[in-house]
Amino acid sequence: MQVYQARQEQLRQQPATWLVTGVAGFIGSNLLETLLEMGQKVVGLDNFSTGFQHNLDEVEGRVTPLAWQRFQCIRGDIRDLEACRKACAGVDYVLHQAALGSVPRSIEDPLNTNENNITGFLNMLVAARDAQVKRMVYAASSSTYGDHPGLPKVEEIIGNPLSPYAVTKLVNELYAAVFARTYNFATIGLRYFNIFGQRQDPDGAYAAVIPKWFAGLLQGETVFINGDGETSRDFCFIDNCVQANILAATADEAAADQVYNVAFGERTSLNELYGLIRERVAGSVPAAGAAEPVHRDFRAGDVRHSLADISKAGKQLGYHPEFSVRAGLDKATAWYIKRFV
Ligand SMILES: NC(=O)c1ccc[n+]([C@@H]2O[C@H](COP(=O)([O-])OP(=O)(O)OC[C@H]3O[C@@H](n4cnc5c(N)ncnc54)[C@H](O)[C@@H]3O)[C@@H](O)[C@H]2O)c1
Repeated sequence: MQVYQARQEQLRQQPATWLVTGVAGFIGSNLLETLLEMGQKVVGLDNFSTGFQHNLDEVEGRVTPLAWQRFQCIRGDIRDLEACRKACAGVDYVLHQAALGSVPRSIEDPLNTNENNITGFLNMLVAARDAQVKRMVYAASSSTYGDHPGLPKVEEIIGNPLSPYAVTKLVNELYAAVFARTYNFATIGLRYFNIFGQRQDPDGAYAAVIPKWFAGLLQGETVFINGDGETSRDFCFIDNCVQANILAATADEAAADQVYNVAFGERTSLNELYGLIRERVAGSVPAAGAAEPVHRDFRAGDVRHSLADISKAGKQLGYHPEFSVRAGLDKATAWYIKRFV
């Protein structure tokens, strides 16, 4: 935490201009909130395909009016190079989050995922390189570990991708490495492992497990567990992810042209997760305390276990996740209760 605090202090003393792509989404809007609170100027780029104006409205309500004036939102698409160039103009740091998430979505519509996640990513690389930004940090993914069975996951050892989504995230890493080699434009990729927290969308067919279960339990709906529930993930609270982004953007050049795991470094099974969410929700919705989940088939493209080794990010970026899964769920509970009860 010491490195993070020092870096935040430096930024407060000497504010910078940041571009957050995907700013109306879950992770993007949380980055926006922290950056504005830290006195930074933020340009946001989003086409609102899976992001929402209400996420931005919520951030506006949580920061001061003066801080909000430091935010400029561009409605645009990363598949449009000119929109990327416009957004990158005069920017110090790029935090590239815009992409189509979700493994099942990519299985249903690989072309759309490819265009948003690969063409869009390449446009952002070109625009950020040409604008000579100090650093571009991008959202990579733990899906890149694919079918490799080894645990914990270390950055250097990956398997074969299990979905079109995983291919796009792997291709992002390949393009990023080529841009370092060919154009001397070194970026940092953050391989996120199941990030969760406030403003993660609970609605729709492609919602992630934690928001979906909060919504189900709070609204008295059946909660489904895919498979036997012993599938496990390294769930990571959003504030840890924000920390990793700010550290990566401001890290020394020696830490660039690399990818880093961003996780908490602990494994939680789906059965355990269900229990943790149920006990938190039961305080506000007593009926949820007795709700039993329904198990159904395993989902295509899902890996069985996931756990990150986060020592590389610790050593080279100074990343030390502040929130455990339990502490993160406490915070998330308060937010979902406010939304649904
Ligand atoms: N949430 C996780 O657990 C997780 C895990 C691994 C990787 N990631 C990656 O992190 C990033 C952010 O994910 P999130 O969970 O906040 O998802 P999200 O869907 O909430 O946010 C993505 C944002 O990008 C925007 N966007 C999508 N396509 C765009 C385009 N073509 N042009 C402009 N804007 C576009 C969407 O409107 C949305 O606001 C994504 O790259 C995702 O693949 C997330």
